[in-house]
Amino acid sequence: MARIDALMSDMTLTEKIGQLVMVTAGTPVTGPVAAGDPTSGVRDGRIGSLLNLFGAGETAAMQTIAVEESRLGIPLFFGFDVVHGHRTVFPIPLGEAAAFDPDLWEATARTAAEEAAADGIDLTFAPMIDVARDPRWGRIAEGPGEDPLVASRMAAAKVRGFQGAALADPRSVAATAKHFAAYGAPAAGRDYASVDISERTLRDVYLPPFAAAVRAGAAAIMPAFNDIAGIPMTAHLPLLRDWLRGELGFRGVLISDYNAIAELLNHGVAADLAEAAALALTAGVDIDMMSPAYEQGLPEALDRGLVSLADIDAAVRRVLVLKERLGLFDAPTGRQQATGAGVASARRERAREAARRSIVLLKNDGGLLPLAAGIARIAVVGPLAEARAEMVGPWWGAGDRATPVTIIEGLRAALPHARIETAATDPDAVVDPAALDLQAADLVVLCLGETAAMSGEAASRADPGIPDDQRALAEAVLASGRPVVVLLSSGRPLIAPWLFERAPCVLATWFLGHQAGHAIADVLTGHADASGRLPVTWPRAVGQIPIHAGERPSGRPANADDPYTSKYLDLPVTPQFPFGHGLSFAAIDIVAVEVGHPAAGDAGGAPWIFRPGEAVDILVRLENRGARGGEETVFVFLRDPVASVARPLLELKDFARIGLAPGDRGVLRFRLGTDAFAFLGPDLAPRTEPGAFEICIGRSADRDALIRTTIRLIA
Ligand code: GLC
Repeated sequence: MARIDALMSDMTLTEKIGQLVMVTAGTPVTGPVAAGDPTSGVRDGRIGSLLNLFGAGETAAMQTIAVEESRLGIPLFFGFDVVHGHRTVFPIPLGEAAAFDPDLWEATARTAAEEAAADGIDLTFAPMIDVARDPRWGRIAEGPGEDPLVASRMAAAKVRGFQGAALADPRSVAATAKHFAAYGAPAAGRDYASVDISERTLRDVYLPPFAAAVRAGAAAIMPAFNDIAGIPMTAHLPLLRDWLRGELGFRGVLISDYNAIAELLNHGVAADLAEAAALALTAGVDIDMMSPAYEQGLPEALDRGLVSLADIDAAVRRVLVLKERLGLFDAPTGRQQATGAGVASARRERAREAARRSIVLLKNDGGLLPLAAGIARIAVVGPLAEARAEMVGPWWGAGDRATPVTIIEGLRAALPHARIETAATDPDAVVDPAALDLQAADLVVLCLGETAAMSGEAASRADPGIPDDQRALAEAVLASGRPVVVLLSSGRPLIAPWLFERAPCVLATWFLGHQAGHAIADVLTGHADASGRLPVTWPRAVGQIPIHAGERPSGRPANADDPYTSKYLDLPVTPQFPFGHGLSFAAIDIVAVEVGHPAAGDAGGAPWIFRPGEAVDILVRLENRGARGGEETVFVFLRDPVASVARPLLELKDFARIGLAPGDRGVLRFRLGTDAFAFLGPDLAPRTEPGAFEICIGRSADRDALIRTTIRLIA
């Protein structure tokens, strides 16, 4: 740290504030305000980091100006949104979450980090670990879905993948966990809107993924745009200073979201830029991304006594420590010079694997899939059939949108002997269903859904269904009487009860990235099993939102025979598909569950007993009774039926996958420590209460299909 001490004693106030300023420099536009040429600011030491500039040559040139032409020669760092791949685009995070595989999540982040680092990127604004239970919110696409455990595991895996063994490794990039916190719960699903949730839900659901990211060593965290109950996250003292830095001991850098510090004026908590800057800095926000607040407001805030030099110094030191940890003082262009990201074919194969494992087979009536080997004639219709750029979805990093494999290309490559015809249309074109002659086809593949721009940031939809003109097409195709397989491209669960009622076979194919078409063909042909499972509950109607597996019990649980119970007059309370839903081509059944010891609960009906400090072992026996090999995902939920605070109907505690050949049997083992049984008491302090618990095992959160075993914790 001697180098940092020496630098700090040399820096002027302007140079110090410069280290806290991040501006955009490249062509990707990721926010409402633009910037001019940053070169003179870099040369004058008024800019400490850049975003949206990538490319070894481009970043090295800018870095050389910082190091050789600025007075103190402090290197820049380069930040970029590497959300689901950099050059090689992987499935959107919501899709990848469906694989329920932390090793895969880590591996794709590792590849993305290597590619980004070779492009001169030092830090990514990822992982996005916002729990989201509202598909109206377009950014549900960018994250892990509805469950805090899944989000926490994804957070840790992504941080490990991006950061590797050491930040100084020229093939690693620093991770920025975002958006802290509860950004996924805006009022009415409208992006950037206010959030108002209980302290308990915040702590149970929205904070744990960030705790997991910090424990995994995330170098940075980005406060969210939203306020919670009137306090904007960019200025949230209790959560930024007291919880994140205090309780959790986070020592890294806090980077504001784009222009968010200046937006404190719009939130109505600051009267001018000096007040906005003071609020953010005092809360611990180190870097101002793309707002004039720190550059223009901090000097005045200092004059007015709203901040101290010590506050500024603490932030500057954290930024310099990050640069030191990234190895930038010793090798300012180390990343640009390191050897690239390995063999291109291996990266492509990884993208194809991630994509096929993200696909969720929602419905497969009559066993239409996998396709019969000798299928002769397929009609591929719908606006997404030949859509290429759309396959990458929102946030494609530095990926080439001209090279994704389309659905029809994937099918043609996989079925060279079949006649595959298309009546694809432009994503925006209105289709005349009468123009289609489908009668000659053995199968129709109907490609429906969203364009990339319909999900992601600033892409909330009040009615997240299938666009009307596509519905007209779908109705015509379904009326043709031909067998139909529907592929749904989207960044969210699409609400379309009419489709799920009438179409025999539907797959959620999200936005699968560069290898989309091949991955879809892999699954349709049965070359790979349909192994994805829903990381989010799929609603039947907008009126059910928010809907998720972790709801708390009602005093009047839904009962069809009793009007005074919790339900709708016009809609079932159950979702279209529960969390965890997804069909396989195999028929892997859970044949036995053993909790604690074999046949727990059978001994005279007395539940198995355990004490604080003792782990609970769970053994799940499975058998593939089908004719095809495949993969199943098993979920371990907990239900605490009586506690001093009403606990959710289901709390996910673990999950695992197993692959089984036809006729094979296998075992999955889980272990829950006592902490799995703890919860926040009425005073919000963690506690464990003796009594009965149900261990609920199943292939999804369908409450009627769970295998429940009661066990008892004694004091
Ligand atoms: C944004 C996003 C954030 C992103 C940043 C930089 O507006 O909210 O996720 O990292 O801009 O592009």
